[in-house]
Amino acid sequence: MASKQGFDPAISFLEGLSREITDDELKCLKRQCQSTGLVPPGGETEKGSAGDLFMELYRKGLTSPGNHDIFISLLRAIPREDLITRYCRFSEGQSLGQTKHPSFIVGKVADFLRTFYRSHLSEIQPLPWCHDFFLPLNDVYTNLQFSEKDRRGRSSDSFRLQVSQLFENIMDSARLPRRVRVEGPPGIGKSTFCHKVLYEWACGKLPQFSAAFLIEMRDYSGDIADAIIEQLPEEYQIMFSKDELWDQLLRDSCDLLFVLDGLDEIDREAFENSDLDNLIQGKTMYGSTVIVTSRPHEFDAILKFCHPNLKITGYSSKDRNNFIVNYFVNRVDIGDKLVKEIQSKRVLSEICQTPLNTILLCVLLEENAEKLPDTVTELYASLVLSITKNYSTTRKGVEIDGDQLRVISPANSANSESMPGRV
Ligand SMILES: Nc1ncnc2c1ncn2[C@@H]1O[C@H](COP(=O)(O)OP(=O)(O)O)[C@@H](O)[C@H]1O
Ligand SMILES: [Mg+2]
Repeated sequence: MASKQGFDPAISFLEGLSREITDDELKCLKRQCQSTGLVPPGGETEKGSAGDLFMELYRKGLTSPGNHDIFISLLRAIPREDLITRYCRFSEGQSLGQTKHPSFIVGKVADFLRTFYRSHLSEIQPLPWCHDFFLPLNDVYTNLQFSEKDRRGRSSDSFRLQVSQLFENIMDSARLPRRVRVEGPPGIGKSTFCHKVLYEWACGKLPQFSAAFLIEMRDYSGDIADAIIEQLPEEYQIMFSKDELWDQLLRDSCDLLFVLDGLDEIDREAFENSDLDNLIQGKTMYGSTVIVTSRPHEFDAILKFCHPNLKITGYSSKDRNNFIVNYFVNRVDIGDKLVKEIQSKRVLSEICQTPLNTILLCVLLEENAEKLPDTVTELYASLVLSITKNYSTTRKGVEIDGDQLRVISPANSANSESMPGRV
């Protein structure tokens, strides 16, 4: 078993293990590796020995401690419990093929991003145009309903999903590359879900990832390393070059999480010239985990490589009610009233399946507890009115008279009415 990677006790250990594999077991191992995407069909390894196969897995970091489950489930497929016991005993004392700790540069970047995401993603800004209104993510975040599409395009029933469950139950850790698609219409909570994933990582709740990166597709200029470097303070650019960062990311790729939010928002030209195709297909960072969000039916040809294929369907009625009660924790009367209204009016409950609509309704009601909209159009009309009220407090030339907007000439602007409003 030749290796270019210098002496590593793991290599001779794996070599010893491979000698125990019979021909039938080898066939079974190869089938298993191909069906789970660990090794591409038709490659060199298809004809090779068990030693060659183990070496390919070693090079991909799939025998490393972070990927314990993968290697064990392979051995279990043969099945060879005796080899599993030997592997576990050996790997307890050694690191099989990959360093346990992230490379120096990745470690430094991860340390910074942990602090950065912990502060920047700790709050939701429900109204993007309102820069003084934030809500704590952990208090407000409400678990969403998801459905999963199988390879025939059939959707499962909706189920409630917590971030940790995505990594524990939904993703098959033995299937590589690990690429998760999360789709849903605007306002359904894709970005907020991404923020929650990164925030949990930053708070130490996803220790399987030594580093995690939020990459917002609307700002993406075509290069993953650039997108990471842009999030770092300028001083870091003196410490290492982009190529050095990329090399170390490749080395540590099995322990990395990339969250690509809003693929549908990407600049088409940036996409054409980007490395995203390779990342999503697993041609680069093969062992890493990637989550990609987008609106439905966008980039289907590329996202078909992802598994699982999840769709956010909104709030369950129970979670929506919890959200409202939480939101109006200091105005219980309004919260109760809204919950009752929604329960009695189907149209309102449909509006409030989407988190964005629910929070907008709450904000509007906080402003004026009297009038609830009956349709989405009315909801948005009330919002426009509210935004304009706010606009009229800061700009001259717009006048509000009850529910009427009036643009007035500069000469008359001194008469324009100012109404305080958050929206
Ligand atoms: N899980 C959630 N819990 C509470 N509020 C949410 C949640 N998801 C979304 N929201 C609210 O809805 C708004 C829009 O969600 P967002 O994640 O931006 O949707 P998308 O990215 O799908 O367009 C957020 O700003 C937030 O106020
Ligand atoms: Mg979004």
